[in-house]
Amino acid sequence: MGDYRAYVDRDPYAFYSDSLERGPVCWDESMGARLALGYDEARSVLVQESVFGAVPSDVIAALLGLDWQDEQLLASCRAWNSTIFRWSETFGADEAATNEALAAAAGLDEVLLPVIRARREHRADDLISLLWDKGPDALQPWGEAEVLAQCRVLFFAGSDTTAHLLRNLLHVLLTEPGVDDRLRADPTQVGAFVDEVLRLYGPIHFRVRVALTDVELGGQVIRRGERAHPMNAAANQEPRHYPDPHRIQIDRSPLRDHLAFNAGPRFCVGAALARAEGAEVVEQVLPRSSGMDWVDGAGRPRFRGYMPRSFRPHFAALAPRAT
Ligand code: HEM
Repeated sequence: MGDYRAYVDRDPYAFYSDSLERGPVCWDESMGARLALGYDEARSVLVQESVFGAVPSDVIAALLGLDWQDEQLLASCRAWNSTIFRWSETFGADEAATNEALAAAAGLDEVLLPVIRARREHRADDLISLLWDKGPDALQPWGEAEVLAQCRVLFFAGSDTTAHLLRNLLHVLLTEPGVDDRLRADPTQVGAFVDEVLRLYGPIHFRVRVALTDVELGGQVIRRGERAHPMNAAANQEPRHYPDPHRIQIDRSPLRDHLAFNAGPRFCVGAALARAEGAEVVEQVLPRSSGMDWVDGAGRPRFRGYMPRSFRPHFAALAPRAT
């Protein structure tokens, strides 16, 4: 029925609503997987690890203890991350993408290994030092390869994703009438705003799982070995779960049960950091301006991406506050 891959760099929400009308779980030929679009069905794929097994994912740099002021280094890291994301979008089926991802991972290793080795000898106030100190309590033997693996996952999972969130936050501030005034009047609502944007436009639209056993979901039988993709972004706009789902509603209740950070055992370990970064950006932007507006003639952002998605690029300017 659907062809989800046709939605690369395009707004996929109409596809989600149309597919949902046909049922909460559908087969997608282009992905070779069943898409779990309903809230309950997507959640159920995410939380049941014994049924659906996981298929292998400038704050993070600072957190790890890298030189976060080295712009060139960070640009390389971002490029390597994008290459690895592109590979993950091919589900390992594209040899050229796999080789590029391996080269990107090697580039990241070259940046991380000198710091990992230095912290082995001399601890500092950073996450790599903590990994050396606490890692052996979790896994034995614990060495350079284990610290490197943790750093790679953190770097990959924590940097690009949050950048997409920040873009989507700015996008909603620019497009949703009155929301900036409301937050300026009551900054205690910023946290709720961040979560509502995560629900409405969470950067991670779907995850990948494999059925470990025959299982029934949403009226369909999924056979052992078949892929089932929880469509987190579709589930987050499921009208049965979120009334009036396409509207931003800061006072929704419950507000934090969305699937932007997953659910169940593989819940995002960086959720609190991502929420804090989002809130910090909104809190810094709002009091400095009386609003934001598009730059004349510069074009409007489009929904771009596939695995992580956001509206970009934003050519917008802050209107200075009248003094
Ligand atoms: C808006 C920002 C973020 C979003 C939308 C996001 C989303 C997610 C999602 C959906 C997963 C589940 C992956 C899966 O099981 O298939 C995940 C896992 C993970 N995230 Fe995040 N994440 C964000 C920010 C961060 C940050 C800032 C960090 C690190 C500081 C981080 C670290 C991780 C790690 C390590 C995992 C793997 C957890 C595990 O497998 O047990 N994430 N994230």
